[in-house]
Amino acid sequence: MASRLAKELLTKMTLEEKVSQLLQLAAPFYDEIKDDGEITGPMEELGITDAHVSGSGSVLGVSGAENVIALQNKHLENSRLGIPLLVMADIVHGFKTIFPIPLAIGCSWDMELAEASAEIAAKEAAVSGVHVTFAPMVDLVRDPRWGRVMESTGEDPYLNSLFARAFVRGFQGQDLASEKHRVAACVKHFAAYGLAEGGREYNTVDLSERQLREYYLPAYKAALDEGCEMVMTSFNTVEGIPASGNKKLMRDLLREEWGFEGVLISDWAAIKEMIAHGVAEGEEEAALKAIEAGVDIEMMTPCYVHHLPQLVQEGRVDEALIDEAVLRILELKEKLGLFEEPHRGADPEAEAQLVFSAAHREVARELAVKSSVLLKNEGGLLPLDPGQKVALIGPFAASGDILGWWSWQGSKEKAAQLGTAMQQASAQASNVVIAQGCQIESISEAEVQEAEAAAKAADVIILALGESSEMSGEGASRSDIRLPEAQLELVRRISLLGKPLAIVLFNGRPLDLHGVYDEADALLEAWYPGSEGGAAVADLLYGKANPSGRLSMSFPHTVGQIPVYYNHFNTGRPLSEASSEERYISKYLDIPNEPLLPFGYGLSYTSFAYGELVLSSDSLTAENPLTASVKVTNTGSLTGEETVQLYVRDITGEVVRPMKELKGFRKVRLTPGESAEITFEINEPLLRYYHSDLSYKSDPGRFELFIGPNSRDAAKGSFQLVR
Ligand code: GLC
Repeated sequence: MASRLAKELLTKMTLEEKVSQLLQLAAPFYDEIKDDGEITGPMEELGITDAHVSGSGSVLGVSGAENVIALQNKHLENSRLGIPLLVMADIVHGFKTIFPIPLAIGCSWDMELAEASAEIAAKEAAVSGVHVTFAPMVDLVRDPRWGRVMESTGEDPYLNSLFARAFVRGFQGQDLASEKHRVAACVKHFAAYGLAEGGREYNTVDLSERQLREYYLPAYKAALDEGCEMVMTSFNTVEGIPASGNKKLMRDLLREEWGFEGVLISDWAAIKEMIAHGVAEGEEEAALKAIEAGVDIEMMTPCYVHHLPQLVQEGRVDEALIDEAVLRILELKEKLGLFEEPHRGADPEAEAQLVFSAAHREVARELAVKSSVLLKNEGGLLPLDPGQKVALIGPFAASGDILGWWSWQGSKEKAAQLGTAMQQASAQASNVVIAQGCQIESISEAEVQEAEAAAKAADVIILALGESSEMSGEGASRSDIRLPEAQLELVRRISLLGKPLAIVLFNGRPLDLHGVYDEADALLEAWYPGSEGGAAVADLLYGKANPSGRLSMSFPHTVGQIPVYYNHFNTGRPLSEASSEERYISKYLDIPNEPLLPFGYGLSYTSFAYGELVLSSDSLTAENPLTASVKVTNTGSLTGEETVQLYVRDITGEVVRPMKELKGFRKVRLTPGESAEITFEINEPLLRYYHSDLSYKSDPGRFELFIGPNSRDAAKGSFQLVR
């Protein structure tokens, strides 16, 4: 329901002023901050007038308390009705204190820390003048060729939904009006951007509405149920229509069915790109389709400002559609308190104290520790002994490029580098000798020989390898997801020495680990661990922390296996041990069906044993749930954290059902010898799914449940759902 202030303002606005409120521009259009902004999309001549700029409703990609204060003051001077500017930016996993990329945070399975990271990001951004963040990105991902998997928390709708909620809580807090150190969140990209064909950026998406609802929509809905203020459209088509002009998706589902009354913003140029998609003859038709779909803000293209006034005057667009969009934008400005305090949280002094503070970096370090995943540790090579002689070799041995793609305010120069951190963590700095070995994508004989010399003198070799941040993120799809050949050559050369070899990976996607996994005795996935990444990895390598991360996205055997994900269907000719030699079976001739490393997988420096799976009953009803319990024991010599995972399988559905679905998990910290009884409640709502008629309900019948350390190695039980 629009507020009185918004309604009163609306009555005073001219049609031109209303339409200008729907325009969002990047920094270069505002003289005060011309060179201080972040450009995150294609720039072209827009045909924007000064009047459009002074009447624009929001700006993206700027920050800096003094910058934003100056911009807002100038904007208000030029605004006939004193309407403040909304300042939006991509604060995806940190502002200046950069946290691990969301795909890494997804491997932490730690909602509290995820929320804490968003709260800190919001605080740093708010004192720097930002009002809205274009996050969380909750696109479900199953194709690591796509560069933006780094921005998602992974392949599971349930886990993604929990993270979506945690991020929204952290960004927005409980009351945006009173909490000036929070920002409004904008969940993206609605919808199903992660299903781009071939993992190729901006490529076609096509899926059934049932799949859309079962897998791709839950995390967006979770963000909105948590109170997320904004939604961003995705670039892709959904059922043949680009999201930004898709009335069924935006009007019928988002606004009518879900009751979303917040602001819907297009992604960068996504409205005008309906022309390239081939569903709009020109800007006019693009504007028409988008406003009818209920898109309130047009980011960085001029279709609205160039054509909506005339479309209204010609009676082809009802001015009421413009009014509702303007009201939603004014409402958000009011909710943020911008009419009373146009500068909101912008505060140069607070900015100087809070941003990139030691306290914030400490949280970043803890989250980077929790987000790293130990993928292999033959013979207990790790943790290192501080007295060991270590050769640290590779392009990430002394690199600050560990922040990831969406870290535009982060400082690579200030990032904690692995080499320095290891020298500080070892008994004496000289125990750790650093050698480049190769570049990200090139290698020289001189570099290799220097590395070999260091390796020969060491007890243990650590190779720090990975992708440059340019090889990941938006616009960075890769058809070959192995490490670059130069780095594989370095692995080959160093492996010839026959010394204990651990490899640490800094990357933004599950990789094809050919040339890495078999060659390493130990393998630690650090992702892009953020501002404190090197320190966190050193903590793990020297055992100051025990790895606890669990994969939230599968690692394929090879790119040819993609898409490969844990919650797959059985097919009519499933591969099994009994059928593996048969020809006419769903399998490959050259690789297994299962991924190299499954969803939920991760090792610890200690070990955990699972006792018998005990069910309270062999059946449940809607009124009487059952419980499933298992005793977990730390059977190793170090304290460690286990993530006990619960999966369910519906044996027979009205539509085919996945082999497993994550339905719960518990993180439990156990000292050596300590046990814990982990109990899950299995109730009827957990068993509901979308039927072919899109009804969401459960069916009576047989189910299996699995409790274990990952989606592959889990004890199985069975039960009936009876009416
Ligand atoms: C980019 C991204 C989107 C981002 C927006 C503004 O193209 O797709 O995630 O929020 O533009 O930078």
